[in-house]
Amino acid sequence: MTRNEALNAVRANVRNDNLVKHMLATEAITRALAKRFGDDVEEWGLAGLLHDIDIELIGDNFADHGRVGADLAGELGASAEVCHAIMCHNWTNEIPCETALDKALICSDPLTGLITAGALVRPDKKLAGLTAESLMKRFGEKRFAAGASREQIASCEEMGLDLEEFIGIGLEAMKGIASELGL
Ligand SMILES: [Fe+2]
Repeated sequence: MTRNEALNAVRANVRNDNLVKHMLATEAITRALAKRFGDDVEEWGLAGLLHDIDIELIGDNFADHGRVGADLAGELGASAEVCHAIMCHNWTNEIPCETALDKALICSDPLTGLITAGALVRPDKKLAGLTAESLMKRFGEKRFAAGASREQIASCEEMGLDLEEFIGIGLEAMKGIASELGL
């Protein structure tokens, strides 16, 4: 499956533009992590890009989130590894995150929210002037972007990545697609 096919499938299934941006941001971070670890950039990018493709299909059935997405991604031609990462990124499914890709997706998903919120409180509402140092402070403020699970972000350590490095990688990755994100 190509990146373009994946993006078209996302756009066909997700109407909310902010959700599409969230998936693009997650893709940018998982791609950057693949580079950092010398892994498969295209595969890791697909997991990030597709991970919430079911979000508008499942209605109120959050327990189905991830399972429906993994099935859909599989039908579209994504690999078993990508589908597994999508399935287990919903922690409530209680499917353990085992592979490096599983772990990369689960920590990248909430980091996008922390970084986006960090940009939006700046006077210019842009990523350009945002630093990893200020995001580290924001990380410690529990009420700031409260929906961005700190526990899940900090699980980057299970990949052997310290939090500050991870936040720096995520920030640079999102800056790289700032115009697509409108930030
Ligand atoms: Fe997500």
